[in-house]
Amino acid sequence: MKNKYVVFDGMDGTGKGTQIDLLKAKLRLSVLFTREPGGTPFAEEIRKVVRDNPLAGKSTALNNFLLFWAAREDLLQNLIVPALQTKHVFSDRGDSSTYAFQLWGEEHRELLGLFKLLRKRVFDRNVGRRQPNLYIVFDLAAEVARERVMKANRGDLNHFDARDLAYYERVREGFHSFAKFNKVEFIDATQSPEEVHQSVLEVLAKNGIKIMSTREFFG
Ligand code: TYD
Repeated sequence: MKNKYVVFDGMDGTGKGTQIDLLKAKLRLSVLFTREPGGTPFAEEIRKVVRDNPLAGKSTALNNFLLFWAAREDLLQNLIVPALQTKHVFSDRGDSSTYAFQLWGEEHRELLGLFKLLRKRVFDRNVGRRQPNLYIVFDLAAEVARERVMKANRGDLNHFDARDLAYYERVREGFHSFAKFNKVEFIDATQSPEEVHQSVLEVLAKNGIKIMSTREFFG
């Protein structure tokens, strides 16, 4: 299939959101943008539970892990797979996050077997289902990323943001571990937003993702 499924990921504080906004401004017509957890009405409900409800922070690691996969299953089935018929799909986070945050950040590596099983089940179950073609991970020293989160969120942290430095380091290491068995392009997130944006466009082009900007579309 010519249309690609690309995941954008990274630790909190790497500037991922800014970069996705820059892409949205240019590529609204040729790319479907979505996010995890969320993206469909049902998955957005799961997002409220797993991300915003403090009870999720008190539940088990397995429960949180399963909720992220539950949201992903709905998103794949009801949005991503149908959308790929006509467009590229760019997702803000994906299974790379579950791997980096739950398995590495929260140190639940015992979930690796289940991770692989669910990945097969959710991505490869039916004809037309598929894994992401490419992961673009914004990479930054853990202390810089954490500093940025603290500054940006002052006092308004969700239970994922309020973590210590060691946690950020483990998450970063998790993304690097994920890259050993997946197609991941790391982008240096210490550059200016405009430089990072250029790097993103280069990576997309290099990976055969020919994208038409809104301006080009209208000639
Ligand atoms: P959000 O504030 O939307 O993150 P960001 O804006 O930084 O993308 O919240 C998503 C949080 O959920 C983020 O801290 C990462 C976490 N997360 C996981 O722990 N596992 C996952 O599988 C996914 C998709 C997200």
